[in-house]
Amino acid sequence: MSAHKIIIAIDGYSSCGKSTLAKELARKLHYNFIDSGAMYRAITLYFIRNGVNVADTEAVNAAISDINLSFELNPQTRQSEICLNDENVEGYIRDMLVSDKVSEVAAIKAVRTFAVAQQKTMGKKKGIIMDGRDIGTSVFPGAELKIFMTADPDVRVMRRFKELHAINPHIGLDEIRHNLELRDYIDSTREESPLRRADDAILLDNSNMSREEQLRFVEQLVENLVTDKKSIAAN
Ligand code: DC
Repeated sequence: MSAHKIIIAIDGYSSCGKSTLAKELARKLHYNFIDSGAMYRAITLYFIRNGVNVADTEAVNAAISDINLSFELNPQTRQSEICLNDENVEGYIRDMLVSDKVSEVAAIKAVRTFAVAQQKTMGKKKGIIMDGRDIGTSVFPGAELKIFMTADPDVRVMRRFKELHAINPHIGLDEIRHNLELRDYIDSTREESPLRRADDAILLDNSNMSREEQLRFVEQLVENLVTDKKSIAAN
C-alpha cells in the first residue's frame, strides 16, 4: 500500500472490536496504533490505587500532575502496551474494578485535557490509527479517514464475555451487560466531548461481519483515499 500516510480515527461504542480492527489495520499498513481508552484506563487505575476522589477538583489536578503515561512495545506480540509512571500496567487496566470507574474518570474535563494533549502530539507525524470515543470529533477532527463502529448489544456482550472469561472464569454475563450499558450511557451523555459519530465518519456495523471482512472494508477505504489523493496531486 502507498507510502502516503494519513490519520485514521476509529470511534464507537464499548466492545465493538475497535481496537482489534485498529491493531490489524496498523499491522497491515505499518502504522502506529494508539488505544486511547488504555490511557483513560491507566489514569483510572492511578485514581483507584491512590484513592483519588473524583469530586475533589484539587485532588484530581494533583493526581494528574503526578501521572506520566507512555507506551512501550511488547517484543513478543509486537503491540504497544501502556505504562503508568514507567510501570507497564497493561495487565491491570481491563479489570472490572477499572471498567466500572473509567467512564466517570474520563468525563472529567481536566482528565480529558491531559489525555487529548498527548494524543494530538502523537498524531503529528501521521501514519497513526487511534481508537476511542472522540477521536474523529475532538482529537483529530481533520483525520483523513473516520470510522464509527457499532454492533448489536448482545453481540458486544458476548464478545466481551469471551475476552474476560479467559482471564476471570467467575465473570457473569449480567455484570458485563450492565457495565457496557452504563459506560455507553455515560460516554454519550457527558458534557465534555461525548461519544458521537462525526458528520464525515463512515458507519461500520460489524454485528454480522468477520474480522477479515471488517479489515477488507477499511483497507478498501484507505486504498480509495490514497488513490484519490494521488490523482488530485497529478492534476
Ligand atoms: O475503549 P475502552 O473501552 O477501553 O475505553 C474505556 C473508557 O475510556 C470508555 O468507557 C470511555 C473512555 N474513553 C473516552 O472517553 N475517550 C476516548 N477517546 C477513549 C476512551
